[in-house]
Amino acid sequence: MAKFDFDEDIDRRAVPALKWHPMVLGADGSDLFPAGVADMDFRAPAPVIAAMQERLEHGVFGYETVPEGLMPALTGWLQTRHGWTVEPGHILRAPNVLDSLAIAASLFTEEGDGIIVQPPVFFDFYDIIGENHRRVVPNPLILRDGRYEMDFDGLERLAADPRNRMLYLCNPHNPVGRVWTRDELARLDTICQRHDVLVIADEIHGDITFAGHAYTPFATLGAQAAANSITCISPAKSFNIAACCSAFTVIADDVRRRAFQVENSRLTVNKNNAFASVAMLAAYGDGAPWLDAVIAYLHGNLAVLRDRLEGLAGVKMIEPEGTFLVWLDFRGLGLAPDDLTAFLRQKAGWAVTRGIAFGPEGAGFARLNIACTRARLTTALDRLSDALAQFKQTVASQGETR
Ligand SMILES: Cc1ncc(COP(=O)(O)O)c(C=O)c1O
Repeated sequence: MAKFDFDEDIDRRAVPALKWHPMVLGADGSDLFPAGVADMDFRAPAPVIAAMQERLEHGVFGYETVPEGLMPALTGWLQTRHGWTVEPGHILRAPNVLDSLAIAASLFTEEGDGIIVQPPVFFDFYDIIGENHRRVVPNPLILRDGRYEMDFDGLERLAADPRNRMLYLCNPHNPVGRVWTRDELARLDTICQRHDVLVIADEIHGDITFAGHAYTPFATLGAQAAANSITCISPAKSFNIAACCSAFTVIADDVRRRAFQVENSRLTVNKNNAFASVAMLAAYGDGAPWLDAVIAYLHGNLAVLRDRLEGLAGVKMIEPEGTFLVWLDFRGLGLAPDDLTAFLRQKAGWAVTRGIAFGPEGAGFARLNIACTRARLTTALDRLSDALAQFKQTVASQGETR
């Protein structure tokens, strides 16, 4: 038997899994291919499960501090995996990444200030900015020859406006799958430093990249970049433990870190969950072989997807460099966003995330999550292929009757 079995079809409906829940799929969605919510259908690494079982067996769950090994395991991971030397004292624990994005906005900008984002981008960025009474300032990415790039001229212009005080960076980028290069990040850093725009780097997807595309932690660009940024990391995506882990906020600047600590105390978001602690310790300490295997499996799924889509008219894949999310371009179908969603749901049986959820630039696109069994992906592709063939036929027959 293979050491890791990602082909196992695990019944996620046995627990209230969001991706598979009627809340996301709709009351009539039980037959759909659940490929929206950004988690994986795979069992977590065995050392993580064993550590949680051991903790459970102990049976006493009173207040706890952080296990001694957790920070060394995390800093060791960042060092060996990504070449990032992090001072343990610069790391704060956070309930999750989105909390840190919200706290950063509330602490380091004023109501009405602009926060720059690069759409199409993770939809929760918009909610956080709006709910904190800040303004979303879009600097859309540029799609050039099937690959997204940052618009540095646009960024320079927007950053020069003193009301735009912060930028939410998604590195690697959800949903377009870019793993930003060191050069790209350095250009962004230069512009942000020049105009005193604080960079909040959401690097939750940093551990999952494909061959030839290395994740560059923003803070490794240099001491100034580290000082002008706050980085949010978490093992949630990497080890598929979003429901039982917390996150980390790395802040090199002493004054900002202190302000963050005070705010964490004010909000009392500084309690430790015993299961999250042991899960993260095991993940960072012993999870590397599982992560390597899962990346290889995702790479295989990607090859299947690429191969099958190549022959299909009406859909193009934007080649991801990392993440388990794939940005699909359905603009060839000429459908309005609601019609595209209806087509994908009703004809192809796909419950994917609507492109426009990521900004108006996402019209005509959809985000597919490929972290599922290969069998499920293959069946879903059969259904898409049939639906597209039928669509083509209908369009052709409408043309004839005109
Ligand atoms: C870019 C990005 N940031 C943050 C999150 C959510 O992180 P958390 O659950 O730690 O708040 C996600 C989840 O999809 C994400 O894609």
